[in-house]
Amino acid sequence: MTVTIRQIHPVFVGEVSGIDIARALSREEVAAIEAGMARYAVLVFRDQKITDEEQIVFSRNFGAIEDARGGNITKAEDKRLQTGMNDVSNLGRDGEPLPRDSRQRLFNLGNMLWHSDSSFRPVPAKYSILSARVVNPIGGNTEFADMRAAYDALDADTRAEIEDLVCEHSLMYSRGSLGMLEYSDEERALFRPVRQRLVRTHPVSGRKSLYLSSHAGAIIGMPMPEARILLRDLTEHATQPQFVYVHRWRAWDLVMWDNRQMMHRVRRYDEGQPRDMRRTTVAGDAPTVAQVG
Ligand SMILES: [Fe+2]
Repeated sequence: MTVTIRQIHPVFVGEVSGIDIARALSREEVAAIEAGMARYAVLVFRDQKITDEEQIVFSRNFGAIEDARGGNITKAEDKRLQTGMNDVSNLGRDGEPLPRDSRQRLFNLGNMLWHSDSSFRPVPAKYSILSARVVNPIGGNTEFADMRAAYDALDADTRAEIEDLVCEHSLMYSRGSLGMLEYSDEERALFRPVRQRLVRTHPVSGRKSLYLSSHAGAIIGMPMPEARILLRDLTEHATQPQFVYVHRWRAWDLVMWDNRQMMHRVRRYDEGQPRDMRRTTVAGDAPTVAQVG
């Protein structure tokens, strides 16, 4: 089989055919996917019936699996999936949808804000790989916004203004914007803000992109309201329809995206019915800027 990629959106996103990711990939197949990621930033694979183990093996072709600690409030004893898998379903350990007042559920609603996975880590994520095991009957689309196209469309003055800005990212900023303001001391320590550049350059393509995320809540050296307005304004610009692809899930879709050049969000769905989505995350290899403290 030969890997072929067909662009399915005017500015990004490729649909991949000619590959069975449940099998061990050849070096050429891995190289074709890496090249496709650098170019399209989101790749869609249809009809990939995989187990968690197969998803982990596939993901390791592209780097180490990110350590998920500090990325959620879910306690170890409440986890449904094995280490290495990020559970982005609406299900508890018993396989049933989480109750409405579940803190875990409320925290996970933050995935409905535009974000880049793990931008709250000192070394933020490279790729996310999401497998649809059970698709919710109503809603639950995932939307992707191309931060390269958004950057390219900025005027020269704005580009110059933001070139060297550094933001603070934390899960407490994204959840705080939803009114979740109470955290234990342990959570506060885990969710301590990290620094990220606002403009990133992709290591393979050399393209610049906005590094935005709902986790971004401050800009170093800028008064808070001014920083929040700038971030909000840039986010509005970057998520205009011409930069956005809407993925309508089918069971056994696998979608892979580059967090260094994308934002994404999930849309509301029927939370009384299951939505079983399982993510693996490929770790990044460097911070975007030196951390302090
Ligand atoms: Fe996400």
